[in-house]
Amino acid sequence: MLGVRTTLNHAQRLKMYIVSKNAAVHGAKPKKLGNYIFFPVKARLPVPEEFNAQFGDYSFEPDGENPKSVFDALSGKVPQESLELVKRSFDIIGDIAVLEIPPGAEKFSKEIGKAVLEVHHNLKVALAKSSPMEGEYRVRKFTHLFGENRTDTLYVENGARMKVDLAKMYFSPRLATERMRIARMVKPGEDYLVLFAGCGPFAIVAGRMCKSARITGVELNPDACEYFERNIKLNKLANVRCMHADVRKLGPEHKGKYDRIAMPLPKDAELFLSEAISFAKKGAVIHLYSFAEIESGYDKPLAAIASECAEAGRKFEVLNKRVVRPFSAHVQQVVIDFSVF
Ligand SMILES: C[S@@+](CC[C@H](N)C(=O)[O-])C[C@H]1O[C@@H](n2cnc3c(N)ncnc32)[C@H](O)[C@@H]1O
Repeated sequence: MLGVRTTLNHAQRLKMYIVSKNAAVHGAKPKKLGNYIFFPVKARLPVPEEFNAQFGDYSFEPDGENPKSVFDALSGKVPQESLELVKRSFDIIGDIAVLEIPPGAEKFSKEIGKAVLEVHHNLKVALAKSSPMEGEYRVRKFTHLFGENRTDTLYVENGARMKVDLAKMYFSPRLATERMRIARMVKPGEDYLVLFAGCGPFAIVAGRMCKSARITGVELNPDACEYFERNIKLNKLANVRCMHADVRKLGPEHKGKYDRIAMPLPKDAELFLSEAISFAKKGAVIHLYSFAEIESGYDKPLAAIASECAEAGRKFEVLNKRVVRPFSAHVQQVVIDFSVF
């Protein structure tokens, strides 16, 4: 491992210099040999001559202390240029870390997963995203990097406990704020329909907040429905039910029945607006999630709402529109809350 050597009389000042340059390696112990001290370092620094320092490939013992960051844990094991590529943030879902391994750092992906688990002791599994969200069920593929070899976990959000299997259903912790925002709007006695419900996060969070609301989640993916049922039981919710069905095929008993409808698809959600509008009571609120080009703002979803309401002969009023989260360089996820009459 790369290290720097100096004589004992310079030890303290050289150590402070290395720390000040953020070049210290955690996880390896400095060592003393005769009149010399050796420090493990991340890179060859321009060290002032007075320190009489000499860089070299030296051996160091592990210091037995836990590294303080993923970068510390990786330094000395992964070349600096690959380290620069590693994203500093990752999603945590229950006890699973979901990482994006950037191109160029793939060959160190196991090492990166290991480092994440070394630093975050509450995490037991490190996975890497290995595909985009795919197919009608919007499920992603993962590669196991380190830790226990599983994709299911228990996730807790605002007190709601939810079992999730990332390899079998869609799940994103990034929508927690949005789920809480909608849950706070749900009024006692409301009939609330969650379309594209997944394993139930929108329905479960709202069901816990408003026990007198009747909440129905509709989901096509049978695995997601199985987990949705489990999550209803886990949270002891008598006011939430899961329907394994295609939104396009709901029967006439759902027409004009709901006070509130959430549409968290969000890819191509506009294609389901006519169904959602048909399920809405007079004065109902619909929450439409959509992917929109940043440049065109809310134009696409607003135009779809106007056209579908006109088609259905319903008036509408936009109550609120907001950006939920950035999605890519040019696209963001937005939500529009509107009433239909
Ligand atoms: C992006 S995921 C969102 C899941 C959930 N709302 C969440 O936030 O975790 C979209 C979900 O819609 C479901 N879905 C897609 N088309 C559907 C349809 N026609 N009817 C019912 N569910 C559908 C998918 O299986 C998937 O679980």
